[in-house]
Amino acid sequence: MAVSVKDVAAAASVSVGTVSNVLNRPDKVAPDTVARVQAAIDRLGFVRNDAARQLRAGRSRSIGLVVLDSANPFFAEVARGAEERAAADGLSVLLGNSDQSPEREAAYLDLFREQRVNGVLVTPSGLDPAAVRRLTDAGVPVVLVDAAFAGGEVASVAVDDVEGGHLAAQHLLAQGRRRLAFVGGPRGIRQVADRLAGARRALEAVPDATLEVIEQGALTVLHGRRAGEDIARRRAEDRPDAVFCANDLLAVGVLQGASILGEIRVPEDLALIGYDDIDFAQSTVVPLSSIRQPAREIGASAVELLLETMADAAAAPASPRSPRQVRFRPELVVRASSGG
Ligand code: RIB
Repeated sequence: MAVSVKDVAAAASVSVGTVSNVLNRPDKVAPDTVARVQAAIDRLGFVRNDAARQLRAGRSRSIGLVVLDSANPFFAEVARGAEERAAADGLSVLLGNSDQSPEREAAYLDLFREQRVNGVLVTPSGLDPAAVRRLTDAGVPVVLVDAAFAGGEVASVAVDDVEGGHLAAQHLLAQGRRRLAFVGGPRGIRQVADRLAGARRALEAVPDATLEVIEQGALTVLHGRRAGEDIARRRAEDRPDAVFCANDLLAVGVLQGASILGEIRVPEDLALIGYDDIDFAQSTVVPLSSIRQPAREIGASAVELLLETMADAAAAPASPRSPRQVRFRPELVVRASSGG
């Protein structure tokens, strides 16, 4: 099998980005590193494919990133991680916001293709595989962020959201809560569906527990507030004793809405947990428990994966490797809102 850039990187104990720099901009690399990489190239008999490199030569020094909701601090952190990693390789990040609209998402993917970016990162809203294929057929690598295609035909970086939902519900059950509610967005958003599935799995182990689903049109503070006010207007016996929100923005809204009539105390009457662990979660009036996603690491890993894919495309190995699927573990962060 042809020697890949990744093999050269491993042999020289450097990143694939450094090998790419030695191949394309050796003046930007320390002489001893150039020598070490060149020695590995010679030793392994690595042969680069100049056709792919020449195709890329006309490309802008940028990466496209399409996020679901640029107003959500989670995606701001993902973008920051991506920018920091891309800058290390002299690349800039062009940011687009699909606002959960498949049409806007497709328009950005086409725009980035026309802009001849080096690669595209996308947190899909309703990603059409054909839209991805238009990019990859044009020689533009794609990495899915915070999602994955079932068949694994595109590289991806994400957190196991089923495990995250399970962690959240299990924590509320461990606090003795039994009337749970899940406040989420459209179930068509894979992250929402997986978090709910994980919560349902946790309840299987507790027969006397129930889970009510309160679906909202989007995952924003305003939609969470509406859900919280709905709960506050109910008779006490009709209210849940714990709420798991599909993200922290919803949880901040539920905290505001549930407290508005002054009858519900969090966590005494209503335990509350969100998802993402955005910076704001720890500074709410009742600090929020949450399921942490390593947002900045997700962004940086997505760029690393994209550089690897770009470098492999440049080397054009006879038998290309399967696209890598990177999975981070979610982490339970317990604070006052769930009794921590
Ligand atoms: O966009 C909805 C949610 O999905 C975000 O809050 C983040 O959790 C992402 O995974």
